[in-house]
Amino acid sequence: MATRKLLLLPGDGIGPEAMNEVRKLISVMNEKFGCGFETEEGLVGGSAYDAHGQSISEADMEKAMAADAVLFGAVGGPKWADVPYEMRPEAGLLRLRKDMQLFANLRPAICYPALASSSSLKPEVVEGLDILILRELTGGVYFGEPKEITDLGNGQKRAIDTQVYDTYEIERISGVAFELARTRRNKVTSMEKHNVMKSGVLWKDVVSQTHKAKYSDVQLEHMLADAGGMQLVRWPKQFDVIVTDNLFGDMLSDVAAMLTGSLGMLPSASLGAPDARTGKRKALYEPVHGSAPDIAGKGLANPIAMIASFAMCLRYSFNMTAEADRLEAAIAGVLEDGLRTRDIMSEGKTEVGTTRMGDAIVAKFLSLAA
Ligand code: IPM
Ligand code: MG
Repeated sequence: MATRKLLLLPGDGIGPEAMNEVRKLISVMNEKFGCGFETEEGLVGGSAYDAHGQSISEADMEKAMAADAVLFGAVGGPKWADVPYEMRPEAGLLRLRKDMQLFANLRPAICYPALASSSSLKPEVVEGLDILILRELTGGVYFGEPKEITDLGNGQKRAIDTQVYDTYEIERISGVAFELARTRRNKVTSMEKHNVMKSGVLWKDVVSQTHKAKYSDVQLEHMLADAGGMQLVRWPKQFDVIVTDNLFGDMLSDVAAMLTGSLGMLPSASLGAPDARTGKRKALYEPVHGSAPDIAGKGLANPIAMIASFAMCLRYSFNMTAEADRLEAAIAGVLEDGLRTRDIMSEGKTEVGTTRMGDAIVAKFLSLAA
């Protein structure tokens, strides 16, 4: 059995607590099923800053580049509010995305039937929801230069961020969108602001050309990103795959996350291009939620997004489809059984903490394998 090299970067806040529940799954899968996972550990975010004065060390960057997949918890917190901008906890995550060239960020928003009533929207609007937001992750305003604040010398300052996209960046993310749509309900909605932004004009154009050249079997629709946000809360089930840029994707995926009942439920995968020789993609898996400093260390965090991110890792990095399906079924199963962490608690259900939720998912996973 080939070894499968994982780098665990738990990070800050509730990241380490959530990661502990994934560690349990990794050991169980190694012990019971000989999965051959080999794990290394590293620091990222505020915890890396405290240890090395950097949001990720060069040594940990090297480990990330060498791993088959990186599992990432969360970064940030009030403790690091005053560290210099270049060293803020989020910089570690952005460096990982950029240096590993993880341009494709898959953010599924799935509403588990057991949670339809936890959404802030009416149950019939979200029940059975299964959409995928595909966010471009290495370009746009997050990385465009210039990016600076200059002193104008008259008591005024000027802040500049640069939204920039090249043809190849739009081509490759739209290719991923169409490929993914073919495995789902065969529909792509592209969102931009071509009515105000030049990058939106090029985005729309390149998506259309890519569609025409290679993917005309897939249904394609264009929507302005603001209207897209409105449609997401009006009738989200009209969507299948939404493809959009880095900043719109950041916002729209938080909106989509809330449709499903809790930010604590949603996983994500960030993928690079397949290597020309080996076919392997660099990959990082992380929950969509943040470090939640208010509940960190209290054993209250919902580990489901982290565990579901591991399921995506099984699916996309290791082609372990059966195991990924089983892990997702285990999550749905414990929710059916009525277990809830505080963020998704509702009347008549059983409130549990992080470790009990994790243990229940491991047990369900094993019982489904039997
Ligand atoms: C996300 C987060 C990050 C982002 C932050 C932590 C830099 O909000 O992954 O959605 O803005 O991309
Ligand atoms: Mg975000």
